[in-house]
Amino acid sequence: DAFEDRFHHVALRHERIWIFIALSLIAVLFIVAVWFVVHDYGLVAKTSQFYSNPNTPAETANYQGSGVKQTGPNSYEVYEVGRAWSWTPGTATPLTLPVGAHVTFNVTSGDVIHGFEVQGTSINLTAIPGVVGHVSYTFNKPGTFYIICNEYCGAGHQAMIGRIIITG
Ligand code: CUA
Repeated sequence: DAFEDRFHHVALRHERIWIFIALSLIAVLFIVAVWFVVHDYGLVAKTSQFYSNPNTPAETANYQGSGVKQTGPNSYEVYEVGRAWSWTPGTATPLTLPVGAHVTFNVTSGDVIHGFEVQGTSINLTAIPGVVGHVSYTFNKPGTFYIICNEYCGAGHQAMIGRIIITG
């Protein structure tokens, strides 16, 4: 009858309005998402010159071989790469250095952010993918020093361990 027809007409109009609102929200979210992608790509393009290629930090810092390079009578360069979830060199290949060794650590990450810390020393820096960080330290006492990861990086975070053996 006439009343029912009017009711259906009103209901249809309401449905159309709400479908329109829902589609508008989807459109707005899509535009915002696209804008962020475009904006961020612009940002990366402007600042990328300050970073090494994220795919080649290992080559940039010469991360080959044992990870240790002697550069003077008592000075060494150590190259460390963090990856979920290990340090290279890590526990399998402890770094062995003589007491009094002045060591410069060159640290980077192959994936996400890790925290490079050597327990019992002041060595503590963030391993950032695409960036090589440097920290120097003189080991004046013999013993075993443990490298840990102090930046939560996932399920195997606590397994990121390495060893530095200082021989007296
Ligand atoms: Cu790597 Cu936590």
